[in-house]
Amino acid sequence: MTDADGGAAVEVRGVDKVFETASGQVQALDAIDLTVAAGEFVSLIGPSGCGKSTLMRLIADLDAPSAGTVSVFGKTAKQARLDQEYGIAFQSAGLLPWRTVASNVALPLELHGVASAARAARVAELLEMVGLADFADRYPDQLSGGMQQRVAIARSLAEQPRLLLMDEPFGALDEMTREKMQAELVRIAAETGAAVVFVTHSIPEAVFLSDRVVVMSPRPGRIRDIVQMRLGADTRRAARTEELREERGFFDMVTAVREALHGDAPVAVGPRGVETR
Ligand SMILES: Nc1ncnc2c1ncn2[C@@H]1O[C@H](COP(=O)(O)OP(=O)(O)O)[C@@H](O)[C@H]1O
Ligand SMILES: [Mg+2]
Repeated sequence: MTDADGGAAVEVRGVDKVFETASGQVQALDAIDLTVAAGEFVSLIGPSGCGKSTLMRLIADLDAPSAGTVSVFGKTAKQARLDQEYGIAFQSAGLLPWRTVASNVALPLELHGVASAARAARVAELLEMVGLADFADRYPDQLSGGMQQRVAIARSLAEQPRLLLMDEPFGALDEMTREKMQAELVRIAAETGAAVVFVTHSIPEAVFLSDRVVVMSPRPGRIRDIVQMRLGADTRRAARTEELREERGFFDMVTAVREALHGDAPVAVGPRGVETR
């Protein structure tokens, strides 16, 4: 898929990833082809160890493929990283311990030379959004894991990037906060038109958020299926409200993803692999 300026958000072509370890080679990804259109929300789901994080790291240029290519808005992954084309929120919050909550969120804005008054206003807005307005002057080690994660999410959104890479960003949150953050993320993505690549273990989370859900198989990680979300007549993301979670179409999509996951799996999907709440 391409748009007018010729750029999908992400194009992964024929990607393999092999890790050399002391006990031999580990093939983490095998022949991955995936295109994420500009503005599209795509989730990756699959059992632990199937290569979801590895694929995210390749897109973010934190590691290099063993074969194949990755491009981001038509650039090499490296160039896209240098140009700060995307925001990242990964499993561990990755905050700078010597900076306050506010100045952690402000960091990408500082790096891009945003003037201090505009920066302060934006940081206040972001902290309000993630429910941490009262914690602006605290340090990361004074916060719970879930709160640290919300700081990282605020930081990833600071520059309204046109691509967000999120690896289980809500994994450490309690269920209520998690659903609130999902709704916020849908709203933000709809408002900014950002594409999102999102890793999760939760089928309902993937269904609620995504335009398409990419189902991966156990090692070596392959794409087993891509399930297009059909959630009723109004397909706009803005229509994804809390009520959606109780609608028939939602359950149908949860079932479709679950069947794709369990499909022709040669090995049982372990209880750690996939939450089916
Ligand atoms: N740096 C590494 N060195 C060796 N093996 C790795 C490395 N990173 C990941 N792996 C292996 O690659 C596979 C995929 O890992 P990962 O992408 O983290 O899976 P997931 O995120 O789907 O749980 C696993 O078997 C993991 O042990
Ligand atoms: Mg992972």
